[in-house]
Amino acid sequence: MESSEAIRPEKMGPLVMKETWNTPGSVVSWELAENVYIVRGECAGMVFIFLSDDMFRMKLFHGQVPDLTTSAAVMNENCVPHLFPVEETDGQLIFTTSDIRLIIEKSSFLLRVENTAGKTIMQQNLASWNPRGASHAEYDMQPKSHFYGLGEKSSFLDKRGERYTNWNTDVFAPHLPEIEALYESIPLIIHMHGDLTYGLFLDNTGRSDFDMRSHGIAFTIGCSTGSYDIYFINGPEMKDVVKRYTTLTGRIALPPKWAIGYHQSRYSYMNQQEVLQLARTFREKNIPCDVIYLDIHYMDEYRVFTFDPVNFPDPQRMISELGELGVRIVPIVDPGVKKDPKFEVYKEGVLEKHFCRRLEGDIFFGEVWPGISAFPDFSDSRTAEWWGDLHKFYTDLGIQGIWNDMNEPAVFNESKTMDLDVMHFNNGRAVTHEEYHNLYGMMMSKATYEGLAGHMGGERPFVLTRAGYAGIQRYAAVWTGDNRSFWEHMAMAMPMVLNMGLSGLAFAGPDIGGFAHHTSAQLLVRWTQMGVFFPYCRNHSSIGTLRQEPWSFGEEVEGILREFIGLRYRWMPHLYNLFHEAEICGLPVIRPLVLEYPRDPHVTNLCDQFLLGDNVLIAPVYRPDTDHRSVYLPEGHWIDYWDGEIHAGGCHILAAAPLHIMPMYVQAGTFTAEGPLKQYALEDKAETVIFHLFGAEVGSGFSAGYSLYEDDGHSFGYRRGQYSELKVQAEGTEGALVLKWAYTVQDYRPRRELLQFALCYPNFSIAGVEGLAEISLEQLKAGRTGWAYNGKKGAIIVQINDAAEGGELLILAHE
Ligand code: GLC
Repeated sequence: MESSEAIRPEKMGPLVMKETWNTPGSVVSWELAENVYIVRGECAGMVFIFLSDDMFRMKLFHGQVPDLTTSAAVMNENCVPHLFPVEETDGQLIFTTSDIRLIIEKSSFLLRVENTAGKTIMQQNLASWNPRGASHAEYDMQPKSHFYGLGEKSSFLDKRGERYTNWNTDVFAPHLPEIEALYESIPLIIHMHGDLTYGLFLDNTGRSDFDMRSHGIAFTIGCSTGSYDIYFINGPEMKDVVKRYTTLTGRIALPPKWAIGYHQSRYSYMNQQEVLQLARTFREKNIPCDVIYLDIHYMDEYRVFTFDPVNFPDPQRMISELGELGVRIVPIVDPGVKKDPKFEVYKEGVLEKHFCRRLEGDIFFGEVWPGISAFPDFSDSRTAEWWGDLHKFYTDLGIQGIWNDMNEPAVFNESKTMDLDVMHFNNGRAVTHEEYHNLYGMMMSKATYEGLAGHMGGERPFVLTRAGYAGIQRYAAVWTGDNRSFWEHMAMAMPMVLNMGLSGLAFAGPDIGGFAHHTSAQLLVRWTQMGVFFPYCRNHSSIGTLRQEPWSFGEEVEGILREFIGLRYRWMPHLYNLFHEAEICGLPVIRPLVLEYPRDPHVTNLCDQFLLGDNVLIAPVYRPDTDHRSVYLPEGHWIDYWDGEIHAGGCHILAAAPLHIMPMYVQAGTFTAEGPLKQYALEDKAETVIFHLFGAEVGSGFSAGYSLYEDDGHSFGYRRGQYSELKVQAEGTEGALVLKWAYTVQDYRPRRELLQFALCYPNFSIAGVEGLAEISLEQLKAGRTGWAYNGKKGAIIVQINDAAEGGELLILAHE
């Protein structure tokens, strides 16, 4: 006899059911409840919270009471709601701020944002959801729409015509243009059309998708679980969007200077001797280096918070010997804790219920490097603190930086991650892994950053992470995971890191030289030339591949790499300044040209060259056996950094690029700041700054300025005001150039007595400097004040005392 089992639904074949999507219907009422505008439709409602004149949150809700919690991405202290007048007509509800009008069509719930001139900035046509919990909305796209942001994605800069998924994924398979999801998820899109730009940030930590490909004149943003919770961020310029987005999700914390130096890594340096020898080789060869990474082999059978007793028997001694050489180590810490009842961390984690569990209480186990492992539930502050505190193991040894990897979390199984029904306790608001997934890595890095900071006595920690969500910039630098030693991957690193910068991740970079596959001499040279101008600069390669330390390919290559790594150290004052700017206003260290020249149609998808800050153009060579490349120079005049040739912008030029040259240009009439060549960033050397002024002119109308930020480079003292700001200004007058400098803040005194101004390739012939004697370059090097012709750059260097009260100089031109 058969039981009811005979008619189990799955035996009946696949069920064909039409997907139904519901919409809110027309607006039936609205109310203001404690700074929140609640607009109810026939079937669902939307809340609107204005955070400023240029930013509002809109969230779809079902039922009576909207849930207004945000994810950890949003810095609630910056989200003070504002009230703006509401106008109601028969057909519309209109919210007016001083910059925008949000118009809701009552009959359709269509949303439109206009600027004060009545031009449509954004239009949301339809927000809908299905019974399985997915939601999405459709937005207008224009013939001239361009899309940026979305964090770490493959393919080119402009995301028009692309579709992406946000689901943090460990992708060892080559990062191809068709790969929709990588390790990081930043659900922010920046839409530029004509002279209008806005951003939409979907605060959803589950799987989401952004489709700029499939809907013709519209693009869609959707999520498969959780809530449809969107922030509209106004421009009108892309820079405004980036600055505002980073007030919402935070900005990078100024890194310690050593973290901005050159870093050397390998999977893995196998033992203590190898690490020490590596550090000594850098010093013997005079190749600057700040950090050596310890990949998984430093651990005792991959148990986090341990050292292998055979290969790393005396980490304390190793660290102090490295310290004498000015080298630090950054060890890797993955989330997987080895299942081993004799392993203290595991035992404690189980006994104190720190590991991710299913609702019924059983711990989730997955396989990673240590074998079967459990994964801490960083969503719970109690666990985050526990994990953070465990880092005392490292800080007691003097370690100040940690590398978080595999924190998507990656698991060696079919789904590549934790089962979706695992729970995250989330301080009492438990959610499934399906809803929480993209936040896991960020919460690990947050716990790590806070744990380190708590044990470092006021020193700045450094955390590097592979996975992250919006806001990760507050806690960690991000590297772009397992790329390959392919020229294509070198080229792809540019748009990827540039878009990361537009998405708040100002401190990012790829594995220089490529991680998997075998690098080559040329690829390593070209990649390093580019990489030393990326915010994060680390050479890393995989087990089983050709070695790629800077000396691996003979003397010629070594010499070029020494020069370029040295260049990063000489440019440190300028770089550090840009990091400071990223901390205070959110703008990225390296920028796509479209950020600075949004009206230039040639640059909307230009991503094989980029800007360092706003005035230095870097044009890497990213193909083998190539000694020329075309470079696009935007408006203005641009001076070749290497030979001083001046080019009018607004056109393409063909740049010569023999192997030892990477084309670089500085905008005429601007400054950069260089410092002494050091072997590591905090090497104790006189901090003589050289302000380089490119292409100065005499005559009224010429003006250039620069503001140099300085602090001790390693402590949080700067947050208590211990920093200095030195402003320099150059003004053209009749037959002369006036140079002025003054400290506007001087609560930190750098160790130096002298300042230098280098007038590089001026547009006039220099007769002398009023009140200063002409001296030789040798005398200048020996520390005398005066001015000297610098044959190499066809210009002069002025050396003066770094007086606290500042000063002024007159550079005289020949008639
Ligand atoms: C992952 C990381 C890589 C690391 C390796 C071993 O593949 O992305 O950087 O070297 O794991 O830890």
